[in-house]
Amino acid sequence: MIPKLEVSGVSYSYHSLDGETLALSDISFNVSSGEFVAIVGPSGCGKSTLLSMLSGLTRPEKGSVSIDGRPLEKSPTAIGYMLQKDHLFEWRNVLSNVSLGLEIQKRLDEPARLELLDMMSAYGLAGFEYAKPSELSGGMRQRAALIRTLALKPDILLLDEPFSALDYQTRLSVCDDISSIIRKTHKTAILVTHDLSEAISVADRIVVLTPRPGRVKKILSIEFPQAAPAHWTGAIARNSPTILIRCGRS
Ligand SMILES: Nc1ncnc2c1ncn2[C@@H]1O[C@H](COP(=O)(O)OP(=O)(O)OP(=O)(O)O)[C@@H](O)[C@H]1O
Ligand SMILES: [Mg+2]
Repeated sequence: MIPKLEVSGVSYSYHSLDGETLALSDISFNVSSGEFVAIVGPSGCGKSTLLSMLSGLTRPEKGSVSIDGRPLEKSPTAIGYMLQKDHLFEWRNVLSNVSLGLEIQKRLDEPARLELLDMMSAYGLAGFEYAKPSELSGGMRQRAALIRTLALKPDILLLDEPFSALDYQTRLSVCDDISSIIRKTHKTAILVTHDLSEAISVADRIVVLTPRPGRVKKILSIEFPQAAPAHWTGAIARNSPTILIRCGRS
């Protein structure tokens, strides 16, 4: 079966006056439709560079990225990219922040606005539609950033350390919220994190990168003794007495 996303022999170097920095070397892995894959590796190993190539914002120097068997740049598939910083604009209220992408694409009609209001209510932001971003907690800001990303109805979600600014307790609950939202909406998702336990608690598979230049060190499959339930969340994973981790390179 053709994978949803195929990363094949990707390398990337940054060039500056001081010379060349090889960030990524010969990265290959596949992601199936509806799969949740985490990318883990030490700081500076090229995780954000890789995500930026998966979004199409940066082109690989070598190798290729395909979606549904077509080169990324020719694919009509919508990709949502949630950056590490939430980038909510303080001069816009929360509703007009989450609707920004739709507004830019001239798709903000009344049904779309009502759908956003429903999402805000479903994700714990009811009553904050007309608040300023500074009135939200860290977790609420992350959820607003996720709604803004989901509003464009992407098929593939790219998440760059979305929980790293949060304290540990908030991080656990926001991570659970966001991973269950992603699972319920059956998105194909790629999450970058430096936290292996976070990766184990949310992902179907984990791509572990080496220190820079990032190469694929291992690909781990996370399996539960019983089939993962439909309401599967990180909290269930963390409380599961046994999680099987299988190593492979596919
Ligand atoms: N614009 C740039 N110009 C030059 N070098 C860069 C640039 N952006 C990143 N790098 C270098 O490329 C390497 C990979 O950077 P990248 O941001 O992808 O790492 P990362 O794994 O996301 O790190 P972190 O976990 O700290 O976010 C690093 O050594 C970094 O210094
Ligand atoms: Mg990064």
